[in-house]
Amino acid sequence: MSIPATQKALLLLQEATPYVVGERPVPHPGSKEVLVKIIACALNPVDHRIPYPPHSRLFIKSWPFVPGHDAAGIVVKLGAEVASLKEGDRVVFEASVHTPDVAALQQYATVDADLVAIIPDNISFESAASIPLALTTDVMLLYNQSPAPENLGLRLKPVWEPEGTTEYAGTPAFIVAGSTSLGQYAIQLAKMAGHSPIITTASPHNAALLTSLGATHVLDRSRSNKSILEELPSLTSGKPIQYAFVAAPFHPEACRLGRDALAPGGALGIALPSPTRVPEDVANVGDGKRVGYVFGSVWLPYTRECGIAMFKHLTEWLEKGILKPNPVEVLPNGLAGVPDGLARLKANQVSGKKLVAKPQETA
Ligand SMILES: NC(=O)c1ccc[n+]([C@@H]2O[C@H](COP(=O)([O-])OP(=O)(O)OC[C@H]3O[C@@H](n4cnc5c(N)ncnc54)[C@H](OP(=O)(O)O)[C@@H]3O)[C@@H](O)[C@H]2O)c1
Repeated sequence: MSIPATQKALLLLQEATPYVVGERPVPHPGSKEVLVKIIACALNPVDHRIPYPPHSRLFIKSWPFVPGHDAAGIVVKLGAEVASLKEGDRVVFEASVHTPDVAALQQYATVDADLVAIIPDNISFESAASIPLALTTDVMLLYNQSPAPENLGLRLKPVWEPEGTTEYAGTPAFIVAGSTSLGQYAIQLAKMAGHSPIITTASPHNAALLTSLGATHVLDRSRSNKSILEELPSLTSGKPIQYAFVAAPFHPEACRLGRDALAPGGALGIALPSPTRVPEDVANVGDGKRVGYVFGSVWLPYTRECGIAMFKHLTEWLEKGILKPNPVEVLPNGLAGVPDGLARLKANQVSGKKLVAKPQETA
């Protein structure tokens, strides 16, 4: 396959400016990496935050910055030591914005060969691109067993181990904001773990989608916390809720709903990197309740092993329909369509689906 020397990429040239389409070199894979021609990449809320402080200071290590965490495409070149993949393989991976060559919102990227999953034939590139960051975030928050002090997750039994499908079977799960990308995968992981019932909150028009993923009850998220909390015992037949997950972590009332639904001694997952970002009354919850946090990445020393395990199982989950990708909307004009998509994400105009761009369609 002929590989060009340069490519189109979405670039941030300076802090607090709009992203623009520009050119940069096509990278060469290192010995344990592959070069992937990116067919579809997905947008995430963090992408519209990164150009501005404080996110710019956390995420941008060099200029020009290339955004994008979710990529799906075709392996076009192997590093010298790669034996697990071949040219032409369809793969999905979590890109890393800390290294421009590994970012997703461009036409070609390199990635470590052990941090990809083969996309089975029943899944499109566009659907596959909806998965990586959201699933990684959920998986790290719930299952990363690393003893590293940086790991603030809940260390529950992973669903890919036998105990992960028996330990919590028949116990309730409560997922706040189930129609987010994270929430949709959290519902499906809860189903894999055998939780029952699986109760979630969302706008009513997303109820059928979330039920199809495994939610047993979808409560209108516009209701007051008080009214939702009053209904929960009847939905769980009085069983205590020992596990709750907040997939709308920037909304204090969503965090409080997760906290208040939880029984004493329960585990609450919040999709934020640290307790400093949540209201104090949630971080210091009391009653023996544990709160877990996450930095959704497979690229850190303490997340890599769990990331490899997750990608090993992803192909089979997709092939068997155990894990369904988010519904997607494909944006027009390749990478040039991304800024409009990010503006819609920022304005909360995207509901129950992932926005996807096709970098090869960039003019
Ligand atoms: N810590 C990390 O490493 C990490 C990684 C990834 C994402 N995140 C964070 O996790 C959150 C979810 O990300 P995502 O990509 O899954 O989001 P998303 O899919 O873009 O979220 C869109 C959904 O948010 C729901 N929503 C909006 N406001 C809400 C509220 N006040 N209460 C409940 N739901 C609300 C909407 O639900 P309805 O349409 O049904 O109303 C909509 O479907 C974001 O805040 C993101 O920044 C954190």
